[in-house]
Amino acid sequence: MTANTSTEQVRIFDTTLRDGEQSPGASMTLEEKLQIAEILDEMGVDIIEAGFPIASNGDFEAVSEIAKRSKNSVIAGLARAIHADIDRCGAAVKHADKGRIHTFVSTSPIHLKFQMNKTEDEVLDIITDTVTRSRNLIDDVEWSAMDATRTPIDYLCRCVDAAIKCGATTINLPDTVGYATPDEYKAMFEQIRERVPDSDKAIFSVHCHDDLGLAVANSLAGVAGGARQIECTINGLGERAGNAALEEIVMAVRTRSDIMPYVTQIDPKFLVRASKMVAGASGFAVQYNKAIVGKNAFAHESGIHQDGMLKNAETYEIMRPEDVGVKATSLVMGKHSGRHAFRDKLKELGFDLGDNALQDAFRRFKDLADRKKHVYDEDIEALVEDEITILGESTKVIALTVIAGTGGPQKAILTMDVAGQHITKEATGDGPVDATFNAIKSIVPHEATLSLYQVHAVTEGTDAQAEVSVRLEAGGRIATGKGADTDTLVASARAYVSAMNKLALRQQADNPGALQAV
Ligand code: KIV
Ligand code: ZN
Repeated sequence: MTANTSTEQVRIFDTTLRDGEQSPGASMTLEEKLQIAEILDEMGVDIIEAGFPIASNGDFEAVSEIAKRSKNSVIAGLARAIHADIDRCGAAVKHADKGRIHTFVSTSPIHLKFQMNKTEDEVLDIITDTVTRSRNLIDDVEWSAMDATRTPIDYLCRCVDAAIKCGATTINLPDTVGYATPDEYKAMFEQIRERVPDSDKAIFSVHCHDDLGLAVANSLAGVAGGARQIECTINGLGERAGNAALEEIVMAVRTRSDIMPYVTQIDPKFLVRASKMVAGASGFAVQYNKAIVGKNAFAHESGIHQDGMLKNAETYEIMRPEDVGVKATSLVMGKHSGRHAFRDKLKELGFDLGDNALQDAFRRFKDLADRKKHVYDEDIEALVEDEITILGESTKVIALTVIAGTGGPQKAILTMDVAGQHITKEATGDGPVDATFNAIKSIVPHEATLSLYQVHAVTEGTDAQAEVSVRLEAGGRIATGKGADTDTLVASARAYVSAMNKLALRQQADNPGALQAV
């Protein structure tokens, strides 16, 4: 495979923290969002859509904080075609060296009729008004035609023309419902670019959803049609079937540079770590056979494949695992390793913890090394990610004793820190997990129902750490929490409490006056 010589830059716009976080149950804490934004910034993402500032005080704070901290990326916030949204977004992204307002309105007949109850001309006026207002606040303005792929091309041309005339610098034409095919999507960009007089004054952008499993293919087709920005998310996280997966796009462009004359400025070595971080924060595990970042993406089981691999890796591998950050599993340290070695290992794994978090993580590492014969990189990652989750939480698990076995009923004795106060309660249940969750409920009474409980082992062996995901639902809101520990019940309690904390944050965002409202 030979690289094409005349390559053009394609910008990567990551919307994990906005469209990704919009998937039911994928809410993240501020601390988790800051960690994810940091790695996106470091890996070379051109634009990070950090949130939807009008949605809640939490979203506003996350966008503002990410804007303050970002070193290289443009920081964008989303705004509906409403003045209050645009002003709030402007106030959040103004902290960035490079900020962007991303405003959108629906353009398809079905949205105009049933969602907005507006005529085509009324929507054109809205575009003129809202893009102008955005441009009065900031130079970098992206305008999106929601449901562009189901919009008649003549009307879409008029909308794009209006947005560019009012100063939009990026025009995004999303396949909002994941309906388009690659040929159609490519043709749409070609026609719009040809027919809109000032189309060369803006950068065109693709934004694809995966309802038919075509999001990545459509995104690449849009680029072939002239788009030079791709909106995507880590692990393809997003509404319904998700968005186009960033890691797949980046590696497709890189691996097939012989037929795609484009480059992105993403360093792919960060992909696996970013994937793990987003899976941990969102609680959405990555399927084993997921392209690029799945556990089996580079595993070869059949004899023929293994034989070929031993002779020459290119027989069955089109990418090298180390290119995307897959490391050979390494034995890291034992119970005699000191704080310095631990800090160095964290650096190598890409974690940069503050003094207090480092202290706590080190204490937990020592504890883990006492209980587990071999401590691997994956163990350290699970432990630190767990620590990052706990960092921003107001309610924490302090101690847990469970009496289990054939005798029943199983009993849990739990101590929790609730806003600085230690409370201990006992509860019984149908099994040790049920007893543990009942103990949590007796300390923090709430109405939320459990909709998912999942356990998986971080490494091999009976002393492996368990990584537990718990999803809770209340009042139409869903939140997923994760916990890791060699004791599955401790991990379960942590995951439950983390989900509970996230749900409370979501509910406070809906109703800022509410306190502990799970
Ligand atoms: O899918 C979509 O249309 C969106 C817009 C808000 C850009 O996410
Ligand atoms: Zn979307």
